[in-house]
Amino acid sequence: MRAALGVASECAPLVKTGGLADVVGALPAAMRPHGWHLRTLLPGYPGVLGADSTARVVAREDDLFGGPAQVLAAEANGLDLLVLDAPHLYARTGSPYLDADGRDWPDNDLRFAALGWMAARIAAGALPDWQPDVVHLHDWQAGFAAVYCREMGARAGTLMTIHNIAFHGLTSARQRAALRLPAAGFSPEGFEFYGQISALKAGLIWSDRISTVSPTYAYELTTPEFGMGLDGVIRARADALSGILNGADLDVWNPATDPAIRNFTTPRGKATNRAQLAAEFGITPGEGPLCAVISRLSEQKGLDLLLDALPRLLDRGGSLVLLGSGDRALEEAWRRAADGSDRVGARIGYDEALSHRMYAGADAVLVPSRFEPCGLTQLYAQRYGAIPLVALTGGLADTVIPANEAALRAGAATGVQFHPVTAQGLGFALDRLCDLYAERKTWGRMQRNAMHAEVGWDASARQYATLYDALAAQG
Ligand code: ADP
Ligand code: GLC
Repeated sequence: MRAALGVASECAPLVKTGGLADVVGALPAAMRPHGWHLRTLLPGYPGVLGADSTARVVAREDDLFGGPAQVLAAEANGLDLLVLDAPHLYARTGSPYLDADGRDWPDNDLRFAALGWMAARIAAGALPDWQPDVVHLHDWQAGFAAVYCREMGARAGTLMTIHNIAFHGLTSARQRAALRLPAAGFSPEGFEFYGQISALKAGLIWSDRISTVSPTYAYELTTPEFGMGLDGVIRARADALSGILNGADLDVWNPATDPAIRNFTTPRGKATNRAQLAAEFGITPGEGPLCAVISRLSEQKGLDLLLDALPRLLDRGGSLVLLGSGDRALEEAWRRAADGSDRVGARIGYDEALSHRMYAGADAVLVPSRFEPCGLTQLYAQRYGAIPLVALTGGLADTVIPANEAALRAGAATGVQFHPVTAQGLGFALDRLCDLYAERKTWGRMQRNAMHAEVGWDASARQYATLYDALAAQG
């Protein structure tokens, strides 16, 4: 077994705000058959520290960005964890990033720089009996680790994975020394970004290889439309860039064994879950499809477009249940849309078990994202026989076979795709969905295709292993 260190701010099921956690939580088991032993370094938030009472100290640091810290070796849910116990940075309840009022913690730069610093120390040999050949950095929270690895002379190869380029991890240039970053790095060719410091840019420039979570998003990142100001950096490193699709953890997302639902193995088996879901939301579905949305409520996800297109679905006898949280205005708008309606239901909040019941009970899952690096909800939907209706962008383009005439004739379609990503485009797609739903045979075929689609980690883990192998060979 070769050794790799994953570095991330989230990891399911211990701490999760979105798909990043699912991926970080699933990769270690996925990589094992390919000869890679992955340990995961996480911030010691209260929920993570409490996960293993038998954890033991494997390293200490006297001053980790303002206080003492230790690294604990822990095990939880089959994950081999290294937990960075630094109370001055992480002993805070609630969201990993936000205070009780929903604002970023003012010291997030230091909090995640510390994570990267410790990753680099481990890569450089800080643990007595373990050293990684590869360090796998996830999103901006791990970005500075690439710089520290180089500064400390760590031999491990570094891979920076972009899960979402919208988040740069920006901080003031005045923080450079406090962040222990080299003065020479503050330049347009380095981690400087329009006068500030960008943790993501640091990771993109200092890492040996870059990946993102779908082939289409890899291409999109090279364009000004999707690159969020970093497309030039990505283009300059195009030779080092790969797009590797996320998978679904098939043990967690399995309708035949999922403890949160009435289990089923065929589309017909969804009926009880559908009835329970409608009852749980207090709605009465019409003759059209019962659609579900399980999502962060942010500009990215296009759920304002869905508010505009909703009448189209309701006119066709469709209904909708939504579970989400985030942007306050969107939360309010969705509350209003559901208020007094017997065919629209909304739960504002975060509820893992309810999300499983929604995939299991829904006829369709809607993902009208303006951009989507990969997206996991459309994978879970397929596995649970819910037809994904998705925008034609990023990983949504790579994981759904649209029900065009050719795919229908070949019996291969698994979902509906739409473009352009506007309320009108979405409205047409909802019409299309209702037409397909009314053709019972076609719909049943699509559901079976979806349930049998290969949405697991096999193929992608093999691609990561090839990348890890190359990185280890260069070290
Ligand atoms: P992103 O990471 O951009 O939020 P993904 O589709 O990759 O999008 O992953 C979202 C993950 O978070 C999925 O596992 C989805 O089921 C889950 N999720 C999103 N919102 C909620 C919510 N309000 N309650 C429960 N699970 C949610
Ligand atoms: C990000 C992206 C999402 C992706 C997830 C995991 O949150 O928004 O598309 O699936 O990361 O890679």
